[in-house]
Amino acid sequence: MKTRKLGPFNVNAIGLGCMSMSHAYGTPDPVEAELTLHKALDIGYNFLDTAALYGFGKNEQLLGRVLKGRRNEFVLASKCGMFKGPDGKRQIDGRPEKIREVAEGALQRLQTDVIDLYYLHRRDFNVPIEDSIGEMKRLVEEGKVRTLGISEVSSDTLRAAHAVHPMTALQTEYSLWSRNAEISVLQTCRELGIAFVAFSPLARAYLTGKLTDPGTQLEKGDIRHGMPRFNADNYPLNLALLDEYKAIADEAGCTMAQLALAWLLAKGDHIIPIPGTRHVAFAEENFAAIDVDLSADQIERLDALINQQTVSGPRYNAATQQEIDTEQF
Ligand SMILES: NC(=O)c1ccc[n+]([C@@H]2O[C@H](COP(=O)([O-])OP(=O)(O)OC[C@H]3O[C@@H](n4cnc5c(N)ncnc54)[C@H](OP(=O)(O)O)[C@@H]3O)[C@@H](O)[C@H]2O)c1
Repeated sequence: MKTRKLGPFNVNAIGLGCMSMSHAYGTPDPVEAELTLHKALDIGYNFLDTAALYGFGKNEQLLGRVLKGRRNEFVLASKCGMFKGPDGKRQIDGRPEKIREVAEGALQRLQTDVIDLYYLHRRDFNVPIEDSIGEMKRLVEEGKVRTLGISEVSSDTLRAAHAVHPMTALQTEYSLWSRNAEISVLQTCRELGIAFVAFSPLARAYLTGKLTDPGTQLEKGDIRHGMPRFNADNYPLNLALLDEYKAIADEAGCTMAQLALAWLLAKGDHIIPIPGTRHVAFAEENFAAIDVDLSADQIERLDALINQQTVSGPRYNAATQQEIDTEQF
């Protein structure tokens, strides 16, 4: 079993993203979500990812309700700094008092007395990063949180945060079609001994080959409707890249989803992909990618096939892009 160092923890190399169980990709199914969470722990997942944002607290509540009896079986990661605002919409707020308020709520929702890894979900450009991370450091000192991380930031912001309190993990999007991390944050993490947690490692289902027509397959309200790569102009062009991709998966003896995860694991031993699913079968399939090894030639062909030059459309729309400070190609 491949494992990864995550600050003071040692986790299996593929973690479980829990977002879609309550948020973002269609109507939640709490019964299947519960089965998926239990099955995930049974088969070896021991690193689970949630956030105050997901379902505006419902995802943390789900994990708390379903897994409170199994709390010692996994490293629990959650996030603050982005949540439901007074207008009912998503809000980024990294002021110390809000960090504290959201963290106190998270502990209750998660039915735990400590969160193992607590991320700042987004940098708040109106608040010095030192102030946001400074308050999170106080949560560590008070024993409410064990370690800290940060999400979707540049190397400069990561270094500034790390100077306030050692960062255990940087979480950002990374997959064949989202390579921004290769500009510098992957290397910065390696240099500083910080784990790189790769979110949306399946390119939000694109790399699984199962999403062929977003216009008809995705429910109303699915956040992928607002992402340029999934629109009617770009997606068919992106789909055309998957024929060759599928051929490489066949050659490697794995599924398309597993190929995406095996490619990530091969990119560095500090990388931990957290594929998201609310289905038992997908959770099993994805975890089994731990045992898929790719040849140098297969990795090279994948790199050349799907990358920032060959993919059509930016990963976020302009408004969402303004909320983050990751470097862009
Ligand atoms: N820090 C951040 O800002 C941030 C942003 C986004 C996500 N995340 C975290 O990263 C995790 C993963 O990212 P993600 O959920 O956005 O994207 P992802 O893991 O790339 O893809 C998830 C999508 O792929 C589908 N899927 C999963 N396994 C599959 C398989 N084997 N075959 C076919 N389809 C499969 C899922 O379907 P079902 O859900 O229907 O099973 C879902 O629609 C999230 O759960 C969340 O914890 C963090």
